[in-house]
Amino acid sequence: MRYYGNKTKLLPFIERVVKNTGINGTSNFVDLFSGTCSVGRHFKQLGYTVVANDTLEFSYALSKTFIELNEQPSFKKLKRELCTSDNQGIFDYLNSNKNYQEGFIYKNYCPNGGRMYFTDDNALKVDTNRTLFNEWKNAEIINELEYYYLITSLMRGINLISNVSGTYAAYLKRWDKRALNPLVLEQVAIIESKNHNKAYKQDANELVKKITPDILYLDPPYNSRQYASNYFLLELIAEGWFDKEPEIYGETGMRKYDHQKSDYASKNKALNALEDLILNSTKSQCILLSYNNEGIIPTYAIEQTLSRIGTVPTHCEDHKRYRSINQTKDDLQRTVEYYFKNNAA
Ligand SMILES: C[S@@+](CC[C@H](N)C(=O)[O-])C[C@H]1O[C@@H](n2cnc3c(N)ncnc32)[C@H](O)[C@@H]1O
Repeated sequence: MRYYGNKTKLLPFIERVVKNTGINGTSNFVDLFSGTCSVGRHFKQLGYTVVANDTLEFSYALSKTFIELNEQPSFKKLKRELCTSDNQGIFDYLNSNKNYQEGFIYKNYCPNGGRMYFTDDNALKVDTNRTLFNEWKNAEIINELEYYYLITSLMRGINLISNVSGTYAAYLKRWDKRALNPLVLEQVAIIESKNHNKAYKQDANELVKKITPDILYLDPPYNSRQYASNYFLLELIAEGWFDKEPEIYGETGMRKYDHQKSDYASKNKALNALEDLILNSTKSQCILLSYNNEGIIPTYAIEQTLSRIGTVPTHCEDHKRYRSINQTKDDLQRTVEYYFKNNAA
């Protein structure tokens, strides 16, 4: 999934660092700032018991699906409702359903509403599917995990047809080729596991006080871009608009996100937030922190903070700067992996 700070390309590097800790593959791995869940998924696949957490609802949907679900949902009642015998029948229904319902997305985020995030037809499909999922959940035709599985499928479909250059902070003024494709929902591959894997949607600094990870993986925002604003449209669709229509403003149709601002993306608050987190992580056997060398907390301050409760060998990996599709320059950035053995645990 296109997501700023997504660690998919760094997984071999992160795995190497984790293997160096000597903590074995059935241990408890906590991905505290999980985003797209790329790291949690990888370690679930390797056999770890994984906890994933993020403050955003669309990320919570992904972690409910990729982390908490250990097998394909049965969709027992929904299959009966749609008279189909297998899960693919549900997706065939969703993709061929022309019984469109106009909703908040058609009203605001396509040419019909004066913006170009989606084509009119795709906006209607988003509304129709999202409304159906809500109705099925309220009528108890689907359970919570089935609901989040469908939201995940919708998020992945939307990711492929959004007319944006990477984030949703603005839409493109001309149609990108990918945005002209129809929205398609597909089944989601689930990583099978016998472990009790768990998804949370909490502030990392609060959750960390309640858990005892063997490995605590930290990948906080490292610059002042707020994820809640850059991905506001995914968040709006994941949360829905059914109880109260969101207030939106400006040319981009941004939704208010004050309640979701992260201290880690604030120059004045980031270091305090990290210090508080580290000082409350003393129950973790080992902490791994990914941070960019150009991040808002300077390297010396991170090392000082971590060394307050342990020893800090670091591992570095250079990688290409995150590029949105309208940028062309491939300059290098460095992600530093601070592997940190907790002396207090
Ligand atoms: C760098 S991204 C993580 C990327 C992730 N590792 C991946 O591969 O997709 C940082 C994430 O931290 C989340 N976040 C920011 N502040 C947070 C907080 N206080 N508690 C929990 N999550 C937070 C953001 O919503 C964002 O998804």
